[in-house]
Amino acid sequence: MEVVLLPTPEDCGRVVADAVAGSVLAALGRGGPVVLGLATGSSPLLAYRELLRRHREEGLSFDGVEAFLLDEYVGLPAGHPESYREVIRRELTDELGLDPAVVHGPDGAAADPLQAAHDYEDRLLAAGPVAVQVLGIGANGHLGFNEPGSSLASRTRVKTLTEQTRIDNARFFGDDVTAVPRHVITQGLGTILGAEHLVLVATGEAKAAAIAAAVEGPLTASCPASVLQLHRHVTLVVDEAAGAQLTRADYYRYVLSHKLTDQGW
Ligand code: GLP
Repeated sequence: MEVVLLPTPEDCGRVVADAVAGSVLAALGRGGPVVLGLATGSSPLLAYRELLRRHREEGLSFDGVEAFLLDEYVGLPAGHPESYREVIRRELTDELGLDPAVVHGPDGAAADPLQAAHDYEDRLLAAGPVAVQVLGIGANGHLGFNEPGSSLASRTRVKTLTEQTRIDNARFFGDDVTAVPRHVITQGLGTILGAEHLVLVATGEAKAAAIAAAVEGPLTASCPASVLQLHRHVTLVVDEAAGAQLTRADYYRYVLSHKLTDQGW
């Protein structure tokens, strides 16, 4: 794992935008369809704004890219403003010029969510591999909505949220915890590992313990994000606050300041 420890969330946003754009453009350059894996939540927002700025001002184009979301709430009607499909359209893909038809997410409004989860996994496998997957991390170490205890080999399926995650996400539902769905469809940890490049971003002290556990703790389902230790290409971008509990912080800074010119992300 490459741990990129940076002073501010804005710095993190720029590096995540670089890493994502770099992997997408490299994949486009190889020809054929390119799949971009997107995450919702507040963590990637600065990176998304930076990608949009580059699109507007520097002509960065994602033409030919299909996007797949990590997860979705079960039970919100299609078009609900807090469904992840709507959030990502609003925050990124509309302005990036991606047709809603190429922005995919699990169908949380399906009559049979269990089947919808299988269907989504199949669709992703048929379209993939994902060239680059953006990730945030929950304060409890969750990736997507893979709560602690999730199988490290899991595939896309229905999960039940912890009460803490519902409380954390109530801010998007007018601070009404009861309005936060109890169930979700999420790519599994095994599904996420299928992407060619994983870019995780975390900022703020609330994520510090989860980041330390994911990067330097044991590989364990109790910290789902520790599964990143099994992947061959992870860029983990954190600000000083989120990196505050990393014991090898000095080494990560040393590596970053001695990166070779063409090493890339
Ligand atoms: C959410 C999402 C995750 C996200 C995480 C952290 O519930 N399902 O994909 O990474 O929790 O969210 P935030 O970035 O808002 O802290």
